[in-house]
Amino acid sequence: MLSVVPRAVVVRVPAKINLHLGVGDLRADGYHDLLTVFHAVSLTDVVRLAPAEELTVSVRGDGAAGVPADASNLAAQAAVVLARRAGIEPAVHIEIEKGIPVAGGMAGGSADAAAALLGLTRLWRLDVERSELMSIAAELGSDVPFSLQGGTAVGHGRGERLTPALSRGELHWVIAASREGLSTPAVYRELDRLHAERGSGPAELEPPDALLSALAAGDPERVAAAMRNDLQPAAISLRPALRRTLRAGIDAGALTGIVSGSGPTCVFICSDASHAIGVAAELSGAGVASAVRTASGPVAGARVDND
Ligand code: C5P
Repeated sequence: MLSVVPRAVVVRVPAKINLHLGVGDLRADGYHDLLTVFHAVSLTDVVRLAPAEELTVSVRGDGAAGVPADASNLAAQAAVVLARRAGIEPAVHIEIEKGIPVAGGMAGGSADAAAALLGLTRLWRLDVERSELMSIAAELGSDVPFSLQGGTAVGHGRGERLTPALSRGELHWVIAASREGLSTPAVYRELDRLHAERGSGPAELEPPDALLSALAAGDPERVAAAMRNDLQPAAISLRPALRRTLRAGIDAGALTGIVSGSGPTCVFICSDASHAIGVAAELSGAGVASAVRTASGPVAGARVDND
C-alpha cells in the first residue's frame, strides 16, 4: 500500500498519577529506588511535529510561560536523541499545547518527550522497535516510558521498568492544580533531609498488594484506602498550603486525596463521574487551587491523532 508522509504529526499524550509511590534508598547515581503504581488520566498535552529548517519549540496553554521553549525542553532533547540515532538533523518544529499542569507532579515534561519520540518516529519514518523506543524513553527521564505506555502499570527501578497492572473499569478523579510548581529534585532532596533530621531511613519497598487487588476489582473505595505517596510529606514540607488543599477535597466529599508524585498537584478519588463533578464544583469554590478539573483513568499512552 502507498503510504503518504504526513506534513505534520499530532500526538495526544496523558498525564500520570502515582496511586502508590514507595521511595527507597538514594542510589549512587543520584536517583532513588522506587516501587510505584502509575495510572494515566484524561488530562492531555497535544504535541504537533512539523518539518522545519531547524529545531524549534513553541508552547501554549495553561502555565506555558513556565516551560522552556528551547533545546532544554525534554521534547527537544527527545528529537535530538532520535535524530542522532537515525543519522539525520533534528529539523522539526515542536508545538506543545499544555493541558497537563506544568511542574505539577503529573509528568507533563515526560509526556511531551514521549509524544515527540512517537510522533518523530512517524514523521521521519524510522524503523524503531517498541523496546528500543522504551529504552530511549528511559534515558530521557524516569517517567517517559510510562507516558508512552499509559494504562495502569507498576514501575520499578527509578520508575522506568514497567509491568502492566490489571484494572477493571474507570476511576474518577478531581485534579487540583497550583499556580506555582515544585521542582522534582528539590522534593526528593527534601525527603532525604527529613529522613536525616528524624534519623530514619526510607521504609522498605513493599509490593502494594492491597492496591493492586483493589484495582483488579475496580473498587474505588478500596483503591482510596490503599493509596500512598512517600513524597507527600516532603511536598507538604516545602508547600504547607497543600495540607489545606487536601483537607478541602476531603471536606468536599472525595473518598480521599493525595499529592500527585512530587506535587504540588493534589488528586482526589471519587466513586463515579457525577460524584467527581460535585466534588470539583465544591472544591473550585474553596479557593485552594488555581485550577480544578475532573478526569478519568486509565487511558492509553501517547498516540498519534491524525491517522
Ligand atoms: O528521571 P527524571 O529526570 O524525571 O528525574 C528528575 C529528578 O527527580 C532526578 O534528577 C532526581 O533528582 C529525582 N528522582 C529521584 N529518583 C527517581 C526519579 C527521580 O531521585 N526514581
